[in-house]
Amino acid sequence: MKPDRLPVVVLISGRGSNLKSILDAVAAGLPAEVCAVISNRPGAGGLAHAAAAGVPTEVVDHTRFATREAFEAALTGAIDRHAPGLVVLAGFMRVLGPEFVRHYRGRLINIHPALLPAFPGLDTHRRAIEAGAAEHGASVHFVTEEVDAGPVIHQARVPVLPGDTPEALAARVLEQEHRLYPEVIGWIAEGRVRLEGDRVVREKRAAG
Ligand code: GAR
Repeated sequence: MKPDRLPVVVLISGRGSNLKSILDAVAAGLPAEVCAVISNRPGAGGLAHAAAAGVPTEVVDHTRFATREAFEAALTGAIDRHAPGLVVLAGFMRVLGPEFVRHYRGRLINIHPALLPAFPGLDTHRRAIEAGAAEHGASVHFVTEEVDAGPVIHQARVPVLPGDTPEALAARVLEQEHRLYPEVIGWIAEGRVRLEGDRVVREKRAAG
């Protein structure tokens, strides 16, 4: 591993298009290295993106554990073998418990398909349309114990258009997610953004 690159572990559950955008950004010079991709679902499509990029993959199948605590202990073991400076949730669809979240505090980020604090939880695109929102988008935030409530680092906005379907809106948001997530990971890798207490602290320039 190159010493000037932030070691990153990415957690996925599904198709992994955000993972792909991160891998592409790394290949294009983002100062991070994806050390491993871990999925809680054996069939996650995103595992193929990792393999294609030569990144080791692992499956920690939550259905094989009796309790959430046992699953998360195994997940923590799998992650920490790579000693990551940052753990990236990219469409990881399990709620993570307080012990896990505390263990990675300040180095665990998530992308959520809504302009938080609006529309935490699932089915965000349909809910935004039904609420008559003029704007929708995606948020990258530090993960804290309350689901989808951690300090927001950055957001991308898109208009909600007349006649939008949840699918059309989701596609418009996803395009922005693919730009937003690598950008924020770059800031963290360069030391320009960090979590202090419950606040996001931004530096104008990278340290050093
Ligand atoms: C993305 O839209 C991401 O924001 C969302 O799942 C999708 C994963 O797509 N995440 C959540 O809803 C987290 N609660 P991908 O697998 O193609 O990156």
